[in-house]
Amino acid sequence: MPQPSPLEGLGSPLDRRCASVRLAAKRSRRDDKVGTARQNVQDSGGLFRDLDPEPRLLMGPGPVDVYPRVLRAMSVPLQGQFDPQFAEYMNQTMALYRRVFATGNHWTFLIDGTARAGIEACLASIVAPGDTVLVPIFGRFGHLKAEIARRVRGNVVTIATEWGGVFTPDEIEAAIRKHKPRVVAICQGDTSTTMLQPLAEIGALCRNHDVLLYVDCTASLGGNPFETDAWQIDIASAGLQKCLSGPPGSAPVTFNERVVEVLRHRKHVEQGIKPPDLVEGNGPIIQSNYFDLAMLMDYWSPRRLNHHTEAASMLYAARECARVVLEEGLEAGFARHRLASGALRAGLTAMGLELFGDARHWMANVTGVVIPGAVKTADKVRSDMLADFGIEIGTSFGPLHGKIWRIGTMGYVCRKANVLRCLTALEAVLRRNGFAAPAGAAVDAACAVYDAAST
Ligand SMILES: Cc1ncc(COP(=O)(O)O)c(C=O)c1O
Repeated sequence: MPQPSPLEGLGSPLDRRCASVRLAAKRSRRDDKVGTARQNVQDSGGLFRDLDPEPRLLMGPGPVDVYPRVLRAMSVPLQGQFDPQFAEYMNQTMALYRRVFATGNHWTFLIDGTARAGIEACLASIVAPGDTVLVPIFGRFGHLKAEIARRVRGNVVTIATEWGGVFTPDEIEAAIRKHKPRVVAICQGDTSTTMLQPLAEIGALCRNHDVLLYVDCTASLGGNPFETDAWQIDIASAGLQKCLSGPPGSAPVTFNERVVEVLRHRKHVEQGIKPPDLVEGNGPIIQSNYFDLAMLMDYWSPRRLNHHTEAASMLYAARECARVVLEEGLEAGFARHRLASGALRAGLTAMGLELFGDARHWMANVTGVVIPGAVKTADKVRSDMLADFGIEIGTSFGPLHGKIWRIGTMGYVCRKANVLRCLTALEAVLRRNGFAAPAGAAVDAACAVYDAAST
């Protein structure tokens, strides 16, 4: 239908001419605005462009590439946490993670947030102000636990070993005898050093001294054996972005009745949701609301007492990660991680590189490589790997910064083709950065490990 002219109905020719001039000016101002807006969109440094990340192969210490199934699970429609179907997904997630953690602990659920949210929830909930917390430190993530325990006003004592080693049970027991802690907080795998702390005996000795044992298995769960119940671990937390190959943003936790006892004593519920029949504990209130495991127990129970809005897509992701890991089988997954890191290490050694740390205690999913002296700028090797081959490998922290690279073979990434791609790329990049590795030796050595495993 023809649009009526904006000048229609105006009186004299002069009126019409003036109106026409005003209209032209208005249109020009509007066109200017549209033009400027378009220009803004074009000139705004990509703010309005679609996300289009370069494809990468994430072979650092985590995050790593996410299982495609997990990405798909994240795109299914959201539900609220009180939807009966969603509540059932929550229950299923609890059941799946009991298997991943090898535990019968009823209280096995997710903390919304990255792995340190899980650490913070566990420590804030079990450490009351003034409680002595013993933190054996063998890498950066020991320091993190000490820091978190201090922030919740624990009386933190630490023991340390040189980065690249782990503790013997005797060393830990001696520290327990000396400091009489309420809690021992320790890493299983510390990605900063690539070392795996043996835990099988630590739980029993903590029980003997009536100490609660907290373990951070963020970097190791799903790629290395972890036996919550058999090793008498009282409380543990993890993250998705390592061997479980999910996105960072959800932290599975598990804890037993010894911990529940502590939490009952400290239980306080926020006023606006407190049921009239609720019996509160008479112990010191947990210092954090978001990370209060006692309140979260009510949220993850048939009570469904409201707490936070559940990060539904992350729950879908976590549930799918566990399904992928369990469908493969925990033992089969551990073997796959051992094989890939064995092949990678054989390749690196064949190149003439030195591997970092005590070989008896290497994690099965991340490898430390000593940066050879012939390489002038270690960061250039990493940036060439990324720019020329699309492969991310890691650097390290603290005393190891500039001394080692860390190469992850975890979860979805942990497969032969990726090991060979990484070795091929690294050999080429090293050659162009001053370290001449024998051509082809790395891939041959890695293939030999895979061949031996398949015969
Ligand atoms: C052993 C360990 N604990 C804790 C963390 C912290 O995890 P996030 O960065 O997901 O909070 C990491 C991360 O690499 C880790 O390796």
